[in-house]
Amino acid sequence: MAKMEVKTSLLDDMIGVGDMVLLEPLDEDSFINNLKKRFDHNEVYTYIGSVVISINPYRSLPIYTPEKVEEYRNRNFYELSPHIFALSDEAYRSLRDQDKDQCILITGESGAGKTEASKLVMSYVAAVCGKGAEVNQVKEQLLQSNPVLEAFGNAKTMRNDNSSRFGKYMDIEFDFKGDPLGGVISNYLLEKSRVVKQPRGERNFHIFYQILSGASEEFLCKLKLERDFSRYNYLGLDSARVNGVDDAANFRTVRNAMQIVGFMDHETQSVFEVVAAVLKLGNIEFKPESRANGLDESKIKDKNELKEICELTGIDQSVLERAFSFRTVEAKQEKVSTTLNVAQAYYARDALAKNLYSRLFSWLVTRINESIKAQTKVRKKVMGVLDIYGFEIFEDNSFEQFIINYCNEKLQQIFIELTLKEEQEEYIREGIEWTHIEYFNNAIICDLIENNQTGILAMLDEECLRPGTVTDDTFLEKLNQVCATHQHFESRMSKCSRFLNDTSLPHSCFRIQHYAGKVMYQVEGFVDKNNDLLYRDLSQAMWKANHSLIKALFPEGNPAKINLKRPPTAGSQFKASVATLMKNLQTKNPNYIRCIKPNDKKAAHIFNEALVCHQIRYLGLLENVRVRRAGYAFRQPYEPCLERYKMLCKQTWPHWRGPARAGVEVLFNELRIPEEEFSFGRSKIFIRNPRTLFKLEDLRKQRLEDLATLIGKIYRGWKCRTHFLLMKKCQVVIASWYRRYSQQKKYQKIKSSTITVQSYIRGWKARKQLRELKHLKRCNEAATVIAAYWHGTQARRELKRLKEEARRKHAVAVIWAYWLGLKVRREYRKFFRANAGRKIYEFTLQRIMQKYFLEMKNKMPSLSPIDKNWPARPYLFLESTHKELKRIFHLWRCKKYRDQFTDQQKLIYEEKLEASELFKDKKALYPASVGQPFQGAYLEISENPKYKKLKDAVDEKIIIAEVVNKINRANGKAASRIFLLTKNNVLLADQKSGTIKSEVPLGDVTKVSMSSQNDGFFAVHLKEGSEAASKGDFLLSSDHLIEMATKLYRTTLSQTKQKLNIEISDEFLVQFKQDKVCVKFIQGSQKNGNIPTCKRKNNRLLEVAVP
Ligand SMILES: Nc1ncnc2c1ncn2[C@@H]1O[C@H](COP(=O)(O)OP(=O)(O)OP(=O)(O)O)[C@@H](O)[C@H]1O
Ligand SMILES: [Mg+2]
Repeated sequence: MAKMEVKTSLLDDMIGVGDMVLLEPLDEDSFINNLKKRFDHNEVYTYIGSVVISINPYRSLPIYTPEKVEEYRNRNFYELSPHIFALSDEAYRSLRDQDKDQCILITGESGAGKTEASKLVMSYVAAVCGKGAEVNQVKEQLLQSNPVLEAFGNAKTMRNDNSSRFGKYMDIEFDFKGDPLGGVISNYLLEKSRVVKQPRGERNFHIFYQILSGASEEFLCKLKLERDFSRYNYLGLDSARVNGVDDAANFRTVRNAMQIVGFMDHETQSVFEVVAAVLKLGNIEFKPESRANGLDESKIKDKNELKEICELTGIDQSVLERAFSFRTVEAKQEKVSTTLNVAQAYYARDALAKNLYSRLFSWLVTRINESIKAQTKVRKKVMGVLDIYGFEIFEDNSFEQFIINYCNEKLQQIFIELTLKEEQEEYIREGIEWTHIEYFNNAIICDLIENNQTGILAMLDEECLRPGTVTDDTFLEKLNQVCATHQHFESRMSKCSRFLNDTSLPHSCFRIQHYAGKVMYQVEGFVDKNNDLLYRDLSQAMWKANHSLIKALFPEGNPAKINLKRPPTAGSQFKASVATLMKNLQTKNPNYIRCIKPNDKKAAHIFNEALVCHQIRYLGLLENVRVRRAGYAFRQPYEPCLERYKMLCKQTWPHWRGPARAGVEVLFNELRIPEEEFSFGRSKIFIRNPRTLFKLEDLRKQRLEDLATLIGKIYRGWKCRTHFLLMKKCQVVIASWYRRYSQQKKYQKIKSSTITVQSYIRGWKARKQLRELKHLKRCNEAATVIAAYWHGTQARRELKRLKEEARRKHAVAVIWAYWLGLKVRREYRKFFRANAGRKIYEFTLQRIMQKYFLEMKNKMPSLSPIDKNWPARPYLFLESTHKELKRIFHLWRCKKYRDQFTDQQKLIYEEKLEASELFKDKKALYPASVGQPFQGAYLEISENPKYKKLKDAVDEKIIIAEVVNKINRANGKAASRIFLLTKNNVLLADQKSGTIKSEVPLGDVTKVSMSSQNDGFFAVHLKEGSEAASKGDFLLSSDHLIEMATKLYRTTLSQTKQKLNIEISDEFLVQFKQDKVCVKFIQGSQKNGNIPTCKRKNNRLLEVAVP
């Protein structure tokens, strides 16, 4: 699908007519009415072709927002409603894209909005051109130059609270990409008379009020100023404060702007010092003083102010004072000094103030130019913005107005030239025949003013330079002579009789018929202002100032550069600068903004038709439209034209495939537009009358309505059809869904009913079958039961019969046996009685014995010799047999037990038996020893190297080797000894060293004594008189007492064949050397556990406490 393009046009949504060229009918009334209508609808901009008419709205409208900038950016001039941005965009784009230098000429009377318009143009261009840190700085500096120049060059006037009192032309320079590089500002003729005097209701330049309101106390003190406006004669007091203007805030803005533009701190300081000096100059007053020679002299009234000025500016006070009192004229190396009277002194003072200020202003412009100057030397594209004072017609018009109006004449001239030239060029470019256009050419007025011989400015210069007395009147006379016949010059005194009786023209005035109207000029002051005289003494005094800025402002004061030639007059200077300006403008593509002031009250919403009418007249706007319409009122490139009107013809609608021009031709033929009404250019269609265009517009409107209706119709049809089709589709879907649903429901119902019926039938059938099966089963069971009963009955009957039969058989057998027995007994009774008794007895006995032994065989106890069990005796008569059998069995099993023993075991058991015989039931210690095997050699004498010495000393077989305690008879304490028993000896050896302490032959051991208690004490008594007995008996204790005593007993018996006497008693005597000590065993406490303790009670008694 083709992309929908929405094209807008100036012709869309128009309030009144956006382009005056299309105004029908074209006359002053319709022109004004159109402007008024648009103004009332907040449309302050209207076009005349490419010229923008701007009406000051006197209020801020929301049409300068960044969104608006975007809206107008890169759009065609006629595409959107008229706007200053459209013009700015057009100018900027043709500068950037077509490399054409541009100038924007903003004209209009004071307060019409020229300065605002110039700022809007600059801000638009700043917004749409390139960005970047450097570019932004340039932009910022260019924009910030405005507040500085406005503060010094603008003032409140009756017409405008911010009236520009100088002309300004600014060239903004761009690189090839369209990025700003810098700028150059030219200023024209500052209204310097304002410094010393302001008309009623007006005030001096803003900067004076801004300093006094906004500077800090400290800064004011530095400048030797006071905040009070009324302290200064130069400040008009009646309107020192302006409504809605905050001078203090503006002062801060200005200082900030100066900083951004690049003013150094000391420069700013110097500038304000000069401003302060100017202000203070106004306070210097003079008083007359007569001299002896009768000449008038003046004297400064109060020198205080002069002193402060001199301090501020670094001027020698006496030099300045003298400069105010004398005037030196130099001619041909001759110096003549004359005194100044009071009036001359005041004149000199004011001249100095005006010059100081106007030169300061020019210096500011130069300084700003230095800052904003483009830094590169590459070729630049230039856009010039001219904001120059508009045409001025006051009650009293003086030299300034004359100059300003001259400037406006020149601008009008260039406007006419360029507009016509452009129009003509376009016709040629497009190959359209050029028809001559009648218009008023103001060249004749320009000539009246600037002609080098007969021009008014030339006359004025001539008068000023002429020797002799020169006054304004002589100047007027001269004018009357030279210009009398000029058709635009009027004067009462001229030779032209037309004005002799014109009472509206005073004698001291002349009148010029400017293109914008007649203006009457007061001739008074022309000569003076043109001369712009500053006494040389003053400029020299200024040059001598110790203040670099002031010194620089007055270069002509340098005595080394004394120039006797008169400086160029103000008029000629202005003429020259205007000529330069015009030359400059002619090289550029002009864009016009014609500013109109809607009322004199500076009020919003008021449209004073008379005032507007006046401006339209003198700006020649109607003529402008006429010139524009003289050939063809409207022109448009073929493409947009075809795009706009293609719906009016079947061939071109909706798409034209061929070239646009052919399309337009087809279109115009089809519409039967008279041929004289249009002409085909190379790229544009030219329409002669707006009527034709409006006819086209009407047709278009009508066609658009038809098309809208058609589109509406088709759309509605399409919508309805689509809706219907959708509904139909929906209905089919819904119906099918519904049918399916209802069939589903029906089917479900039938299915469930069927299942129910089916289940009932199945149930009934099943129950019926169950019943039948149950019946069958019961029948079968009954048959089985009956059969079982029947079989049972049969079986029982058979059993009963068999039992009966068996009983009978048994009875027969018993009876038979009894009968046989009876028969046998009867037969054998005679044999039985002789030997049957004994045989039966023997048989019975044998049978019993047999049974007894067979039973005994099964009841035999275990083979353990200690098993005491023995089966019970069955018959009494077997009592002795039973006991004998028990004894034999026991002996047998004992033998059996013994037969298992080795010799070793036998020896052990023999020893144990011996011990049992010796100690059983005698010594309480014995039972515990039964379970302990007798080991004999507890110490491994032969293996342990510790006992090597002992082993070497004993060469016999060791029977016992054991550690015993030998009881000390002195205190009853025990000492460890090794007790050795060999075949022949008893030995006691030291436990540690193994040294034999005592050796007793077994034959010398007479007795061993011990207690009956549970202790291991024993005494070995020795034979009296033997060698061993000399030390006395041994009292020893051992853990293996029973074993030791048994082995000692057995060894003694086998060696000496004598039984060793073992005495078991709880009190026995022991021979210790000569004494006999009684060892007594008592029952002791269990304090020391189970260990018996031995204590010596006295010399004769050792007490052993046994637990
Ligand atoms: N486009 C605008 N929108 C709103 N207010 C405006 C506009 N243009 C001008 N004004 C108002 O009108 C006042 C005067 O405008 P401006 O200073 O531009 O006039 P001017 O033509 O430069 O006058 P002069 O010749 O005295 O310098 C401005 O201070 C502002 O209040
Ligand atoms: Mg202005």
